[in-house]
Amino acid sequence: SVFDFGMIGLGVMGRNLLLNMADHGFSVIGFDKDSTKTGALESAATAGTTVKGVAELATMVQLLERPRKLMMLVPAGKPVDDVIESLIPLLDKGDVVIDGGNSHYTDTLRRVKYLREKGLHFMGIGVSGGEKGARTGPSIMPGGDKEAYEKVRPMLEAVSAKVNGTPCVAYLGKEGAGHYVKMVHNGIEYSIMQLISETYALLKKEGLSNEQLHETFKKWNDGDLQSFLIEITADIFLQKDDKTSAHLVDVISDKAGSKGTGKWTSQDAMELPVAVPVIDTAVAMRTVSGYKDERVEAAKIYSSSESAPALSVEQIHDALSFGILLSYAQGLAMLTQASKELEMEIPLPEVVKVWRGGCIIRSTLLEVFTRAYVANPTLPNILLSEEIAAIVKQVVGNTRAVVASAAQSGVAAAGIMSALSYFDAYRTARMPTNLVQAQRDYFGAHTYQRIDQPGTFHTVWGE
Ligand code: 6PG
Repeated sequence: SVFDFGMIGLGVMGRNLLLNMADHGFSVIGFDKDSTKTGALESAATAGTTVKGVAELATMVQLLERPRKLMMLVPAGKPVDDVIESLIPLLDKGDVVIDGGNSHYTDTLRRVKYLREKGLHFMGIGVSGGEKGARTGPSIMPGGDKEAYEKVRPMLEAVSAKVNGTPCVAYLGKEGAGHYVKMVHNGIEYSIMQLISETYALLKKEGLSNEQLHETFKKWNDGDLQSFLIEITADIFLQKDDKTSAHLVDVISDKAGSKGTGKWTSQDAMELPVAVPVIDTAVAMRTVSGYKDERVEAAKIYSSSESAPALSVEQIHDALSFGILLSYAQGLAMLTQASKELEMEIPLPEVVKVWRGGCIIRSTLLEVFTRAYVANPTLPNILLSEEIAAIVKQVVGNTRAVVASAAQSGVAAAGIMSALSYFDAYRTARMPTNLVQAQRDYFGAHTYQRIDQPGTFHTVWGE
């Protein structure tokens, strides 16, 4: 028999995605050198579905229908190149190879070109939603060869999350666009998580218990903050530790890990350039979280005695709404800019539609963004949309109160503060950067432009 789709790497993501595909009627085959994983795949298959696990790559390739369609879900970096090298001699022209991991888009770009020379289609596809999402419906961000996309489209549409019946997958642009969109998704993911953790600190400072934090986030999730990350945050505050019966969140170390996608977003934003300070801040705060020993020392030296007027839950809610909006605004502006600069032709209306379901940053706000981009697909920044401006105007006042109070009381709220500063700069028609230009010209003859006449000028300053 022949199989519709093959998977290389049967870790939990690979296995779950394959089982999901099988549940939708496709016959699937997975390869992993580890026979416990091939066994786990077969034994987890739903009765009546066609699922096979093999421990030889060549066996899997032989059993695939042509043109072959296969995906790898292996750690980013060298493992992807190793898989590609072992696949090349086994494949035929026209076969489609997908990298579904969190690869850097420049690697994807290089691989697309390399495999194109060999007559093979290579696609970088972002997959979001974690283990559960892979099993029941992830958000899928494909980019690369349009012709290859059409070949795998039925499978991707079948397995993806659905919002009102619409699959959360669409062709998102040329070359490395799929992985680019996933990278920015993760940057936004980092910043929303950072903002939620700041909100947690502020609410705790107002004396909320874990039960009250649970209730608060649950209520927020029933309102305009409805989103996956708020929903799981509400759950987290209820979880008890098996060992100590304490709240689990209270015994978890505050050192945050990361695998690099947030950092990539910031690095690439600097490169373009485009300003994504809330994402930069989120990356930096994970780094600061790692300075545990120093922070313990510094806490003794700078023990906090500051105080500020109490904040209401409503004010903190609004600051979080504001910060989250600004995170999306910065990430989406980055995609818009990158699409132009790197000639990826990323369709922004499709991106926000794909993000509505299945992914980590899914939220009801994405419906608002979808409307904004459908109305104006070339919107440089969603802050310029009238509907979004109306939301921002509602919450910015309380955001200022929260930022002022956090500053006075010594609570680190760098994400919210940076969102507000970005906003204030963005809505300033004349920034004070005329002074920067004057300084540059003063010490380095870097020249400047004037507001009252065209041309380039230099002054011999101080004479
Ligand atoms: C997703 C997640 C997923 C993963 C990140 C976490 O969309 O499903 O983004 O890709 O959880 O890699 O990244 P960090 O380990 O860097 O936090």
